[in-house]
Amino acid sequence: MFETVSPAPPDAILGLTESFKKDPNPKKINLGVGVYKDENGTTPTLACVCEAARRVLAEGGTKVYMPISGAPEYGRFVQELLFGPEALADVADRIRTAHTPGGTGALRVGADLLKQLSPDARLWLSAPTWANHPAIFGAAGYDVQSYPYYDVATRALDEEAFLGALESVPAGDIVLLHVCCHNPTGVDPTPEQWGKIAAIAAERGWLPFLDFAYQGFADSLDADRHAVLQFLESGVEFLVASSFSKNFGLYQDRVGALTLVAGDEKQADAVFSHLKRTVRVNYSNPPAHGGHLVCKVLSDAALKEQWEGELNQMRARIQSMRTAFVQGLQSRGLEKDFSFIERQNGMFSFSGLTDEQVGILREEKSIYIVKGGRINVAGITPKNIDYLCDAVAEVIK
Ligand code: LMR
Repeated sequence: MFETVSPAPPDAILGLTESFKKDPNPKKINLGVGVYKDENGTTPTLACVCEAARRVLAEGGTKVYMPISGAPEYGRFVQELLFGPEALADVADRIRTAHTPGGTGALRVGADLLKQLSPDARLWLSAPTWANHPAIFGAAGYDVQSYPYYDVATRALDEEAFLGALESVPAGDIVLLHVCCHNPTGVDPTPEQWGKIAAIAAERGWLPFLDFAYQGFADSLDADRHAVLQFLESGVEFLVASSFSKNFGLYQDRVGALTLVAGDEKQADAVFSHLKRTVRVNYSNPPAHGGHLVCKVLSDAALKEQWEGELNQMRARIQSMRTAFVQGLQSRGLEKDFSFIERQNGMFSFSGLTDEQVGILREEKSIYIVKGGRINVAGITPKNIDYLCDAVAEVIK
């Protein structure tokens, strides 16, 4: 069976890290995978998480299997973050959450679940989108379609084309939307535009599947849930795939969640029963450790406050690197206006670099950027910014 197999291409994002690790150039910079780095270029474990880990270890606990959908306590904390305690109080009976292995796991479980419930539904993705989205939904058997989103000329949301496309998505189809920090563009709809999107979903009858991987990285934990609340208010059914990889820095612990919002309690229970079967035949039940850490932090007022402080620091450092990057490019005499980079949200900047320029930066400067020109701004540090700006200016000129 294996004799005739030729190698698969490397992953568009994680494959870059593999090449980066092998690169002997001491000046190399990895601006590929969406991972936070501090001013020293390292990805530290958050102090609140270290303390939570000490407490979890001291308690001993058990390594017995988790429930299929994870610990109920974990589900409640996820819901509080996604919806905020006030909104949640009114709708908790029609919301259910499963702990999944990361946000990617949530997307795949959601994809498999919806495929069983509605085998002919098509799945719509923004153009462009995270490189793994089409692969995940394709692997789950979907006919994957795309809707216009980003206007290359204005480097902003193409509102007319985007909303127009959403108007024509047929009832029963599924539309994947990035709640904030759109990956890869960093361009998000405004609160007013989210109101329009939710109204279209309600009127046209397609199902929103919200990808919420970056809560806290745009404006704040509270402000970033705006889109979710708009869908809640519009009364539609929807799914949310969320993740603690970025905002808790728990990348390798694979801590995410799939949350479903149904029309009423009975529907929520029915759909959740199918969700649990989907999990059981896939990975049986979730890995526990990361979920314990999240619960430990969120159940302790002081640790929670510390977490919010650390999250705010990460967001502020990324924003300061956006400003420094724009200034660095402009001070190198480039005619192009790069101020759009400062207006983008989250970890990424859709730099406008062509694939050819991305290739040259990698081959000649050991600077690793995702094809399409997505730069992980969190990978820029005071130590590498001059080398980066010199190199980018050189390829642009
Ligand atoms: C990214 O887009 O770089 C991150 O979401 C990490 C990943 O799994 O691709």
